[in-house]
Amino acid sequence: MARPHIEPYVELDAPYKKFDIAGFKGSHYKVLSLDVDSGACTLKVRFDGGYKRKPGLSYSDMEIFVLNGIIKVGKETWREGHYAFIPAGMHIGAISVGRGAEALVMFNDSEPSYYESDRNHQLALTDAFKSFNSYVDAPWGPGNLVSPSVATGVGIKVLHYDVLTQAITFLYYMSPEFMQNNISYHDCAEESYHIWGTSWMMQFGDLPTGGYFWRPPYIDHGAFRSKLGCIAFGRTDSKLHNYFHFNPWSTPDENKLRAAAHLYRQRPQLYDWVASEGHNHPHGPPDHEHPHYHDDAQVRHLHGRAPAAERHQAPPRKRKRRR
Ligand SMILES: [Fe+2]
Repeated sequence: MARPHIEPYVELDAPYKKFDIAGFKGSHYKVLSLDVDSGACTLKVRFDGGYKRKPGLSYSDMEIFVLNGIIKVGKETWREGHYAFIPAGMHIGAISVGRGAEALVMFNDSEPSYYESDRNHQLALTDAFKSFNSYVDAPWGPGNLVSPSVATGVGIKVLHYDVLTQAITFLYYMSPEFMQNNISYHDCAEESYHIWGTSWMMQFGDLPTGGYFWRPPYIDHGAFRSKLGCIAFGRTDSKLHNYFHFNPWSTPDENKLRAAAHLYRQRPQLYDWVASEGHNHPHGPPDHEHPHYHDDAQVRHLHGRAPAAERHQAPPRKRKRRR
């Protein structure tokens, strides 16, 4: 089961809970969203002044976005706006927090975990590691990065991009007096945390500073407005395609059928191949360019599957009886 729809949720008045597991003692957390089967989650974490931990790794891909305060990680200093993607099994240096800090902390594959280590796991995909200040060291791009596009007045900074699934992590803003009058939905889950400012949506009302949503695929959202503008941290779990329409009563199932009709019209050969009986590949078809893509953590996460090695064990062949 994937994460449930949470929207709108405003975390600012919710109390922190003590984070009482190894590697996190001396910090507090709020759960913003949680996959109860895998343990994957998005947390807001408060690292109390004096928080320290030794070098170590997590068993899950992890993302962190620093909201305020200063966090020392090895030789790096992470300040407000710092973003890091830390692949599962890759160790990071000792952490210390002098005067307290708050951050969004995301574990993408499983529950929060920490294993003390000053080296990487041999299978860690360390090339995916990123660590930079997103406020200072990344440029704003236009919102029409994705086409069909949101209305003029949205800017995007891409922080992380998964080449296999096209999942993205990004900052976005809406300019003051931003307006978009259509309704959108996507094939992907969409997540957002409002760092500052308020946006309004027809279905869910105002989302103020500290507002959050985890929105599963095919759920209508929009029209939009932001009177004074806002800046937010967002993620998708796969390719973001904007399906736009003007029917405020359409259901997620109707939207899903409309998306399939879109595929049927625009990529008929692919639709026919995928939908035809006897040719389905529920575990994903072969890809000659990415032969091991089933093992990619993000792909596994999307399909809720065990590692490919277990999945691809061929069933025992039936012996033909000789007459
Ligand atoms: Fe959206």
